[in-house]
Amino acid sequence: MDAKPAPFVPPAPRPRQSPPSTLQMMRIVYNNPLELWGEPSYNEKWISISTGIGGPLVIANDPGLIRYVLVENARNYKMARVRQKILRPILRDGLLTAEGDVWKRSRKAMAPVFTPKNIDGFASAMLSTSLDFAERYRDADRADISRDMTMLTYDILAETLFSGEIAGEPGSFAHQVDRLFETMGRVDPMDLLGAPDWLPRFTRIRGKKSLAFFRKIVADTVRLRRTRMDRGEDVPADFLTLLLKAEGPDGLARSEIEDNIITFIGAGHETTARALGWTLYCLAEAPWEREKIEAEIDAAMTGNLPPQDWIAAMPYTRAAFEEAMRLYPPAPSINREAIAADRYEDLEIVKGAQVLVMPWTVHRHRKIWDDPEAFIPARFHPENRDALDRYQYLPFGAGPRICIGAAFAMQEAVIALAVLMARYRFDVLPETKPWPVQKLTTQPQGGLPMRVSRR
Ligand code: HEM
Repeated sequence: MDAKPAPFVPPAPRPRQSPPSTLQMMRIVYNNPLELWGEPSYNEKWISISTGIGGPLVIANDPGLIRYVLVENARNYKMARVRQKILRPILRDGLLTAEGDVWKRSRKAMAPVFTPKNIDGFASAMLSTSLDFAERYRDADRADISRDMTMLTYDILAETLFSGEIAGEPGSFAHQVDRLFETMGRVDPMDLLGAPDWLPRFTRIRGKKSLAFFRKIVADTVRLRRTRMDRGEDVPADFLTLLLKAEGPDGLARSEIEDNIITFIGAGHETTARALGWTLYCLAEAPWEREKIEAEIDAAMTGNLPPQDWIAAMPYTRAAFEEAMRLYPPAPSINREAIAADRYEDLEIVKGAQVLVMPWTVHRHRKIWDDPEAFIPARFHPENRDALDRYQYLPFGAGPRICIGAAFAMQEAVIALAVLMARYRFDVLPETKPWPVQKLTTQPQGGLPMRVSRR
């Protein structure tokens, strides 16, 4: 008799059994905030903590409370101080870090950029970039999938952002992106302590020169394209052209276009790369799930469907990606700060409280999910989706500040997975022992070394 295999339970820190001391807490926050959370964070609807550093903290796990904070009373919750301190010097008035009227105007100006029609239009660039990328595995027998997925999603973004038309030395742009990420990834202990801005942050000093150089390349690239558009030349229909079409007094200022290009690079490739890597890893550990997806991809591929239709034709592939984002949300924490005192049911939220909506704990919450630690893509199969509460699954956030790139990322992920899995099988090696670490995104410490074989 065929026994149904037990679902795969991927690696994750066990909930802490006792609260850490302030010193321990700072060390954990610096090294891996995912290791901070104790049993109550995975069991309670909400928790109010007085931390001693950074003001009172509310951990919001209840879907009703999450809807209240991110949607119903969103105007009372601004972006959290620590997050802004890390990201604003780099992303400035890009959409992720803009606030108030600047955010409102630029989100509106950006709506025509992210229409379903434009996202569909990016599908062929996603496909051709994935096909080129897949060539590298033709003669490979192993690879670090984590590093490689970052390269793939970077290539896709560079193609859809500016069709490869980047000012300056070839290769220097990608190099500057790497350097920027190294310095962007960590919370500086000074920020946690609420130290004044004029005190240097040692974790970020290194990034300053890199940032200035990077900004110059972006500004030159934007200027070159504007000149071509003003001359009436044919220009590619990529993000850059779409953003420049939104330039103007009611739309985006030139500096905001530059900030948003840097924001898309910051928010739009590492996130998708992490989720792709975790998906391939979980599927390698659950070959019975992988078989279903390979069969689905093989069947869909025979139909010669245009790539923008793949996502609808491959619901199991999509579900595996969504389940990997449940277990390893690329953005593990969505942080807000209460502008005025507030109340939800019997929960008091004081003015200035930090409110954490953590996909990491919500997605692994004992009272919300059955078998929360197990990799079970069927949760997201079409027939089961209706059973999910909109606010129990938040890889892209919710409310007015929901990820503007969600549809782009989902389409990209399904196309990349289909191209790779149609050609290759990725298996774990004895040394494949990833440990999830939060450094802006949820990264696999130790990388994802995997065996690659042709199917
Ligand atoms: C799997 C991939 C991705 C994940 C998991 C993800 C996740 C998120 C989350 C959780 C937020 C909300 C943050 C908050 O409320 O504080 C967000 C916002 C944002 N994301 Fe994404 N993202 C992904 C891909 C992308 C891509 C591909 C782009 C651009 C091309 C992008 C651009 C943005 C921008 C601009 C915002 C700010 C929106 C606003 O505040 O109005 N993201 N993302």
